[in-house]
Amino acid sequence: MALLTPFLPCFMVAMKRSRNIVILTGAGISAESGIDTFRSAGGLWEQHRVEDVATPEAFARDPDLVLRFYDMRREAIQTKEPNPAHLALARLDREWPKRDGGQVLIVTQNVDDLHERGGALNVLHMHGEHLNAWCLACDSRPRWTGTLIDRPPCPVCSEPALRPDIVWFGEVPYRMDEIYEAVAAADLFVSIGTSGAVYPAAGLVRTARELGLQTLELNLERSQGSAWFDETRLGPASEIVPAWVDELLG
Ligand code: OAD
Repeated sequence: MALLTPFLPCFMVAMKRSRNIVILTGAGISAESGIDTFRSAGGLWEQHRVEDVATPEAFARDPDLVLRFYDMRREAIQTKEPNPAHLALARLDREWPKRDGGQVLIVTQNVDDLHERGGALNVLHMHGEHLNAWCLACDSRPRWTGTLIDRPPCPVCSEPALRPDIVWFGEVPYRMDEIYEAVAAADLFVSIGTSGAVYPAAGLVRTARELGLQTLELNLERSQGSAWFDETRLGPASEIVPAWVDELLG
């Protein structure tokens, strides 16, 4: 089911004229692939305390607990598959530039690789990636599909100094300059499956509005920043994202 705002007719016309599109995704887009969101009932942050597993202090205090937590998550995501929402965004990413040279950038807060496995090419992981490790000795970020609990040597410098390449609370998200540049050069900002609870990602819609972009929210329920969007469409990502992409590609 998709609920549309009364502004829809004007906005749909405007969307068809959009050239560059920045799409922010969150845990909701991967929910129907079987990956837990963070803040829903029974979500990850109800099962684990952020302070225990997702801060640099937690890692310093109890590295085994933190490494085991991410080892389990890394193993689990490799058993999941992209859903129709990932596939639709990948289609948009591939086909939109052929229209009139417009660009699509998918900025994801997700640390899974389902956008890429769905076929998307232009994906920026602002909160890191499960399938990378980060070597604290040489600063390399080798691809990593196995475990870290056993303190394996870094494939680049051989030091046993690998941590998950995840942006923890209190750390700075990746590639923010690039993200702000892309928003500044875009016509349309779309947010999919994110609660709008974590900054700076949650503030991107406000930046977009201030720069004069059209803004669209696709989510199961209204996010915390919902008032900043020109239009909100509610429903499961696997339904409303393909419908929106079909509409845009015509
Ligand atoms: P949240 O768990 O905070 O929010 C998930 C959003 O997805 C909610 O608004 C849900 O309503 C929506 N949702 C759930 N199922 C959906 C579905 N099938 N279709 C569409 N929407 C659905 O997750 P994020 O907003 O991604 O950071 O969380 C942001 C950051 O907080 C994460 O990247 C993570 C977390 O702490 C780090 O770990 C650094």
